[in-house]
Amino acid sequence: MVTLRGGGPRRGNSLSKIGLIKNGAVLVRDGRIVSAGARADVERRAAAKAAEKLDVGGRVVLPGFVDSHTHLIHAASRTEEYELKIQGASYEEIARKGGGILNSVKKLRAATHDALKSRAIAALREFAEYGTTTVEAKSGYGLDAASELKILRLHRELNQEQPLEIVSTFLGAHVVPLEFRAKKDGAEQYLALLMEKLLPEVVVGDLAEYCDVFCDRGAFTVGQSKRLLRKAKEHGLRPRLHAEQLSRSGATQLGVELGAASCDHLEQVNDADIRALGKSETVGTLLPGCDFHLGLKQYAPARKLIEAGAIVGLATDYNPGTSPTVSMPMILSLACSQLRMTPAEAIAAATINGAYALGREKTIGSLEAGKQADLAVYEVEDYREIPYYFGMNTCWMTMKSGEIVWMND
Ligand code: NIG
Ligand code: FE
Repeated sequence: MVTLRGGGPRRGNSLSKIGLIKNGAVLVRDGRIVSAGARADVERRAAAKAAEKLDVGGRVVLPGFVDSHTHLIHAASRTEEYELKIQGASYEEIARKGGGILNSVKKLRAATHDALKSRAIAALREFAEYGTTTVEAKSGYGLDAASELKILRLHRELNQEQPLEIVSTFLGAHVVPLEFRAKKDGAEQYLALLMEKLLPEVVVGDLAEYCDVFCDRGAFTVGQSKRLLRKAKEHGLRPRLHAEQLSRSGATQLGVELGAASCDHLEQVNDADIRALGKSETVGTLLPGCDFHLGLKQYAPARKLIEAGAIVGLATDYNPGTSPTVSMPMILSLACSQLRMTPAEAIAAATINGAYALGREKTIGSLEAGKQADLAVYEVEDYREIPYYFGMNTCWMTMKSGEIVWMND
């Protein structure tokens, strides 16, 4: 049993301290963990005597994965662009020709609420099948008031109607939508719409906890991101950023300055960015699925980030353009083989550090008394086999708040 016990996010050497217990047990009551530890200690408790027993047969138990970066709601795949990319077109070239994010925006605006919802429900079922129990979800394929609100309201419906926990993020600042591009000062006008109309509606409707910006070449500048995220903060939404993915923009240092919950991607960070993250409480969330899917060779400098003391996280970035996967085990495999993280480090980054990135380190991300009973059981003998077997699903059972939400039988 991998517990990740011992309070809070992991940095530096502590990233690999995963609290391994051989022959462990978890006592659950009303969806919460009463006790987690050596089986003999847990079974000795009075409450354990009357408890229903679920023998996982010597398999490996982890806290459920906390996937802290996804673009859950989208209408369709972009497989047509996948082929173009394989033939040599870059992600940015495709975007400049009206593909990319704008392609997904066109598809989303044309999609019905019900179609979006059933696609998301199917995806969430698959997240659960790989051992994920909490999913952050961003808007950002609507880019007009009605469509962005449609996505954010869906986050809330999904949170209420299916077992996984959804953490909602407003990403109205994904890119400048087509209808603003022809206008003079179109980006500024769109930003004004976001700050003056949409943000207040998101807040009044209590539709998001976080505000994200894609701060990069072809999206929003550092100055624009700063204005929007400051405004979001005033409204009580915590900032997070897509930072340093395609180019080195300075988004990471902006994130640190604003006390962002996380700066995500980080392929292009420089040494000063790494130092700034290392001294901060902002999580550096790495998304190696993007580099893998796009066939890019430059993965984020995970080892340097860990050495600098940054709180490193890992997430899928589930989205139709750069990372169409729901599989956290696959992300662990990439983290190990490409980012040179050890299996222990990768698991900590994908559980307790993901929970911290979502402000939920007190309730999820580890197997400890008082936390939600969110766990995943893997059909392996050793936790290191979870990333070792890549592209396969070894998850045997997933539990969310004490309920079995998936079982391979
Ligand atoms: O995290 N970089 C910006 N956003 C997404 C990609 C979105 C898309 O291509 O549809 C990302 O990689
Ligand atoms: Fe993303």
